Order: sequence, then C-alpha cells, then structure tokens
Amino acid sequence: MKLPVLEDLLPLDGRRVLLRADFNVPLEDGRITDDFRIRAALPTINWLLDHGAHVTACSHLGRPKGKPDPRYSTAPVRARLAELAPGVELMENLRFDPGEEADAPEFVARLVAGQDAYVDDAFGAVHRAHASIVGPPRTLPSAAGRLLQHEVEVLSEMREDPKRPFVAVLGGAKVSDKIGVIDALMKVVDSLAIGGGMCFTFLAAQGATIGDSLFELDQVDVCRRLLDEGTAIHLPEDIVGLGADGTVATYGTNLPPGVKGLDIGPGTAAAFADLVAEARTVFWNGPMGLFEDDRFAAGTRTVADAVAASRAFTVVGGGDSAAALAEFGLADDVDHVSTGGGASLEFLELGDLPGLEALRQAAARGA
Ligand code: 3PG
Ligand code: MG
Repeated sequence: MKLPVLEDLLPLDGRRVLLRADFNVPLEDGRITDDFRIRAALPTINWLLDHGAHVTACSHLGRPKGKPDPRYSTAPVRARLAELAPGVELMENLRFDPGEEADAPEFVARLVAGQDAYVDDAFGAVHRAHASIVGPPRTLPSAAGRLLQHEVEVLSEMREDPKRPFVAVLGGAKVSDKIGVIDALMKVVDSLAIGGGMCFTFLAAQGATIGDSLFELDQVDVCRRLLDEGTAIHLPEDIVGLGADGTVATYGTNLPPGVKGLDIGPGTAAAFADLVAEARTVFWNGPMGLFEDDRFAAGTRTVADAVAASRAFTVVGGGDSAAALAEFGLADDVDHVSTGGGASLEFLELGDLPGLEALRQAAARGA
C-alpha cells in the first residue's frame, strides 16, 4: 500500500496540523551551523500554509535523555524557523519528556490534543518507533510530507530498480554498524567499495596485517563470509597511516606495528573514483578516512569529487558523508543528499520503517 500524501488530507482550511520534522541540526555554542534539515521541511510547511492550515511543528534535538536540558533547547531552531516560515509554531524538544522515546500513551495524547491532522516529514527519525512518529497516526488523519515522500521514492528506486552498473561506496568506523545494510546492498549492487575504519576488519579477514588500525575481532567471520559471497567487493590496496612518532605515510595493505590506518591511499581513491565514473547509479555513505583532519581527508575528497562529477544517479546518505560533501561545497552536485543517516541505511536494509508503517496503517483505517 502506498504512503498517504498531503493531498489526502484536504481540505485543510482553518484546520490544525501537527508536523513532525527532523530539526536535529548541528549546533555550536547554541548556534546552528547547518540549517539543511530546516530548509528541507519548507516545501511541506509552505504547502500546508498555502492550503490554509495552522501548523505546529515538533522535533527532537540531540539526545537529552528524557529530561529538560538547556543545551538541547529548540529555541535556536525556533528563531531560524521564524525567519524561514513565519507563523509556524515549534514545540520544545520532544526528548525532554521520557514519554517520547518510550512511545507513552499519555505523551501521545498531549501531542495530538487540539490537532486535526498529522504530517510526518521527519525522514531522519522515521526509523525510531517514538511517540511523535508512531503515536499520532493511531488517531489522527495522517500523511507523509514532501520530504519524507521524496526520500522514500529515491531510496525505493535505488533498492528495487537501479540503473546498472550500481556502485555503492561505504565507509565509516564500524563493520558491526553496517552489516545489515551491507548484506542488503550485496543483493542489489554490482560492486561495493569499502573504505573508512571498517575496511581494516575486511583486510584482516583476508590475512593482511593492519597495525594499530580499528579492528573488530568478532566481525572477522562475517567479513570473510561477505568476501566469499560473489558480489564484487573492492577493498583498499593502499592506506595512509599515522605512525607512533607522528609521521604520516602511504603503505600497501600491510601496515607495520604501531601504524594506524586513517585514510585510503591515492591508488585506492583513484580506483574507487573510476568505479563511480563508470556507474549509472551510485550510493555513497560514510567517509573514507578521518576527513576532519586535513592529513587524512584526501580519500574522502576524491570520492566526493567523483560522486559530484558522475553522470550517474547519485545518492549520498546523511550524517558524516553529507557533512563532508557540504564542507567540500559539493552538496548541489549530487542528485540526492538524504537528510537521514541511520534512516537511509535502515530503509535500504529493510525496505520499510516504523514511521512509514504507522502512516500506512492510518490510511488503511481510512482516517
Ligand atoms: C539523526 O540525526 O540521526 C536523526 O535526527 C535521529 O536522531 P537519533 O539518532 O538521535 O535518533
Ligand atoms: Mg543518528
């Protein structure tokens, strides 16, 4: 069954709409450093306002653990929202109440009180079965906002009907975090390039010595199984490492004791870039190295450049890879930058998420 969409809620003139957004934006000293997620909700907000609705928005911000914490107040978001969409109210951080993460009925009741309809545009949080995501659709007429709808369309197409060759580039620190999505991607991609901290457990599984690099002993067997599975997995052939004495050098795949691998080497970066250049669909998630440090940014930069230059349909998962793209000024050069890090990976893995199921249930009820 398809997701209910904004049009399904009409007429909305004079009606009150509760909008769940993902305004979990990066903050530094109480100032928003990137308002991408706020701007991403504007098409939905403007549509609702144009159709005469009164909009009350809500979101989580950070992980304040169920009690008020001024560091995570939504006040800075409220100020930015007032500039971008005057007239929209914004509640205080949902996670100031333990009822949010617990999906507590009393908390849901407070959220929906006085509201006529519910719109979920919080793609980045739709994998959380929290009160504000799965609660309101139990009672209110409910729909997906434009952002949520678009994210799901893009990722569904990539999952079910990608143009080939389909190349995925994965990075990030831990294999254990990504094993579900790797398994799912292996069934659909033509090749999978692996960099970032997690490549070292794969390299170790192949018998390489990895020095002091990140390593997950309990994932070695899983890596070995994946390497045996048939889909082309591309691992680094050179590594930039940091020695105990502070020297930075490029090595092959065997690192001496005491050296910590912190980026893919230039040969690997060029090979990954070639894979991307030849693809017709590209999914990239996770940096190739410690890109926050200039000495270890080149691998991520080369991959980002290749994704930006590619004529393929290019999708970048949220989180660190989206932040890297923004830092390199390349965010406008990819087809889709997801607003959800964890959510996009979980969707690719499972093909469905709790918040989507909740909306479909509401539609099935005819609410
Ligand atoms: C995110 O930034 O990943 C989303 O807003 C979800 O936040 P969470 O991981 O704290 O649930
Ligand atoms: Mg997260």
